[in-house]
Amino acid sequence: MDLKKFILDIKDFPQPGVIFKDITPLLNDVEAFKFVVDEFTKFVKETGANVIVAPEARGFLFAPAVAYAAGCRFVLVRKPGKLPRTVNEVEYSLEYGTGTLQMHQGDLHENDKVVVLDDVLATGGTMDGIIALCHKEKNISIAGIACLIDLAFLHNDDLKNKYNLKTLITY
Ligand code: PRP
Repeated sequence: MDLKKFILDIKDFPQPGVIFKDITPLLNDVEAFKFVVDEFTKFVKETGANVIVAPEARGFLFAPAVAYAAGCRFVLVRKPGKLPRTVNEVEYSLEYGTGTLQMHQGDLHENDKVVVLDDVLATGGTMDGIIALCHKEKNISIAGIACLIDLAFLHNDDLKNKYNLKTLITY
């Protein structure tokens, strides 16, 4: 399926000079959303993963559907101040500066095989941060990483060389 027709380029959002990838038309189309969930589900099953980890906000749009379809657990990654119990956390790099990502301690279990799922791979800072956050729990492995959109011009091949990477749309 040609997924690019469901992604809109929005100029100067959220600030001048940025071209924002609007994925809402894809969510607003039954067949396109189903296709994406099915592709991710196939990938997750191939990796043998038993848990999906995804960050707010847009990782949450796909991860629970894929977790349900693949028979996996779903673990949330959130920005600070949102999770009510004791958390593990990491600093991660943003385009300008750094941020913090958190996960409830104990949400990942020993021997878990994780697929990290998100909507966009841009600089890769968020993905690197989430992987580091997962490894705060003992003896987990990263079975794969998956993103709907790969902005390939914004990152090098480090993640692709190190992990089993699945992306569905490349710019
Ligand atoms: C966006 C996107 C990815 C991340 C990718 O999230 O949803 O999670 O940026 O960028 P990177 O590869 O350069 O790290 P954002 O931080 O804007 O959060 P949001 O989904 O809550 O808007």
